[in-house]
Amino acid sequence: MRNTTTFDTHLFAKQLESKGFSPQQVGEINDALKNAFQSQKTAKKEVIKIRNEQKADYEKVEAITRKAFYNLYVPGCAEHYLVHAMRHHNDFLPELDFVIEIDGSIIGNIMYTKARLVDEAGKEKKILTFGPVCVLPEYQRKGYGKMLMEHSFKEATALGYDVIVIFGSPSNYVGLGFKSCKKYNICMENGTYPSAMMVKELKPNALDGRKWFYHDSPVMHIDEKEAEKFDETFEKMEKKHQPSQEEFYIYSHSILSLRDFY
Ligand SMILES: CC(C)(COP(=O)(O)OP(=O)(O)OC[C@H]1O[C@@H](n2cnc3c(N)ncnc32)[C@H](O)[C@@H]1OP(=O)(O)O)[C@@H](O)C(=O)NCCC(=O)NCCS
Repeated sequence: MRNTTTFDTHLFAKQLESKGFSPQQVGEINDALKNAFQSQKTAKKEVIKIRNEQKADYEKVEAITRKAFYNLYVPGCAEHYLVHAMRHHNDFLPELDFVIEIDGSIIGNIMYTKARLVDEAGKEKKILTFGPVCVLPEYQRKGYGKMLMEHSFKEATALGYDVIVIFGSPSNYVGLGFKSCKKYNICMENGTYPSAMMVKELKPNALDGRKWFYHDSPVMHIDEKEAEKFDETFEKMEKKHQPSQEEFYIYSHSILSLRDFY
């Protein structure tokens, strides 16, 4: 078999010399190429695996969630408590509870719960919501979150679900096909269309434009005091104020206009 990483350095040097390169330049180019080939050979290919969460992963996943969310949206965070509480609730979907591993070590997770849409005539549609979803800070913005979410969408579709509604920072989700809830005419129970509320159709035209009211699972409304107590069982982390909390405040308190101006 032809080895594509082997090349004749002597012949290559001659070719460079014939093109007017000085012996010093030829030497430097050869060294740089050898180093590049060497690091290519020794570069370790990481093994990425997405699988369902197991009981043995629970503590690790809670710790990862805490690290990913701490001080991001508020000083401290409660998402690790939500993860903890959610697994025992009827609306939790263990089939859609995934972790992503690199070389056998968990670096992120996603969890889904059942949610409902109710139209103006009272007709219900079973849908999904996900969250918490997170990736350890040192692995963020490298595509792992997207990989994890896309995997979960395929599995959710295979289970027969066709709509996901979520709340979050749009920049994390618009690249994954999420659109404003206003475009699908899905509003909150009070009739508002929050800027942070986004919708993804897992099957084209799953939604037909009629007005729907979104209802999430009661498990999403956690007891803040219990969350505080749970947090105290972890290694101490300093609660801080940071600008990302202001961004979260803006998104979570903004609603889209009820009227179309354009
Ligand atoms: C949100 C999160 C799960 C995304 O995972 P990730 O591995 O960091 O994200 P990816 O690298 O896969 O990128 C996902 C999308 O975010 C976008 N993104 C990348 N860097 C970004 C940045 N600095 N700010 C905003 N969006 C960014 C990417 O462009 C990508 O969108 P695209 O499909 O349009 O390219 C992860 O960042 C995280 O754990 N954040 C902290 C916890 C959190 O906020 N969870 C979500 C609750 S709403």
